[in-house]
Amino acid sequence: MKVVSIVGARPQLVKLAPIAAAFAEGDCEHVIVHTGQHYDADLSDVFFTGLGIPDPNVHLGIGSGSHGVQTGNTLAALDPVLAAERPDWVLVYGDTNSTLAGALSAVKQHIPVAHLEAGLRSFNRRMPEEHNRVLTDHAADLLLAPTEEAVRHLAAEGLADRSVLVGDVMVDVCLRVRDAVERGEHAAPTLPEGIDPNAPYLVATLHRAENTDDPARLAALVEALAELPVPVALLAHPRLLARAEEQGLKLGGGALHVGRPVPYAGMVAAVLGSVGVVTDSGGLQKEAYLLGRPCTTLRTETEWVETLEGDWNRLVPDPRELGSAWLPLATRPAPETPRGTPYGDGRAAHRVIETLRAHQA
Ligand code: UD1
Repeated sequence: MKVVSIVGARPQLVKLAPIAAAFAEGDCEHVIVHTGQHYDADLSDVFFTGLGIPDPNVHLGIGSGSHGVQTGNTLAALDPVLAAERPDWVLVYGDTNSTLAGALSAVKQHIPVAHLEAGLRSFNRRMPEEHNRVLTDHAADLLLAPTEEAVRHLAAEGLADRSVLVGDVMVDVCLRVRDAVERGEHAAPTLPEGIDPNAPYLVATLHRAENTDDPARLAALVEALAELPVPVALLAHPRLLARAEEQGLKLGGGALHVGRPVPYAGMVAAVLGSVGVVTDSGGLQKEAYLLGRPCTTLRTETEWVETLEGDWNRLVPDPRELGSAWLPLATRPAPETPRGTPYGDGRAAHRVIETLRAHQA
């Protein structure tokens, strides 16, 4: 069996790591195509080296642009690559513009396409990720769902016949790296200046268009983080830095300490060392849950609804509520409620490969 994985953005590299490792154990031919949607070393190269992913076989070098330009350029560049490779499966990951372009290029060339992390929904039709997920699920031949909730969403859209529950590959990588961090196999992460790793701190990230691209909203979020009573390590995505600069907004001051994005093991170590997480990232909400740190999500909804149970994750769209005197949501202690295992047992990547094999034409 020959499989082409199409990736391009940071969260896809995290999901690729356990898949590439599982492929390396067997006799499948695995070809990695990097679209180049993320090109900064902090968002791409460090994930290949840090997670032991083989170098991409093909790099398209697409880069940034409007959604149409980024998706269209990726689609055009992928056509000849997939035509030459003619794999048994194209595997696309998550919800980025690279995911949608990969699914479209494959389906139009009659190459079977499987979507990893199928069936997630925010039901927020203003999010670029929601367009990408829905369109990719309806184009794909095989839908690899991470949770029972995702399977229900697919069934509700008439896609039950193509859906298989495999679990979440992010559990595979998160727990493996957590164990390595706890064994002391990774150097301590570089936290922003002013953060004492031995005193209580929060880890924060902010990159979604809904939060970064509206100047009033971004200013309110940054101000609320700066006013928290606990130091905040903001590991800033390049999109956040670019938008803040365009808007003339100064990041930092008060409790807020700004640093660069960290590699995957660094993020796991930073979360383990923290008293909580404040974020709009999908992956980080789940990592906080798996690592047992309370998470505050700066959005009106989440695709990972299982994390909300037992108050492990709280949706706080209004920045004024983050540090309010009467109920400081961002600094609430870890709940005592036990966490379940809604994301699977850490063997999802092997199940993905078995499922691809079982459904091979
Ligand atoms: C993308 C995904 C999002 C995912 C996120 C993780 C889409 C629509 N969005 O968002 O689902 O959660 O990746 O990081 O696909 N930039 C750089 N260097 C880089 C990459 C981006 O400076 O290496 C800057 C550029 O200013 C660019 C902006 O970030 O215009 C946005 O990048 P883009 O790839 O469009 O989306 P992300 O915000 O990274």
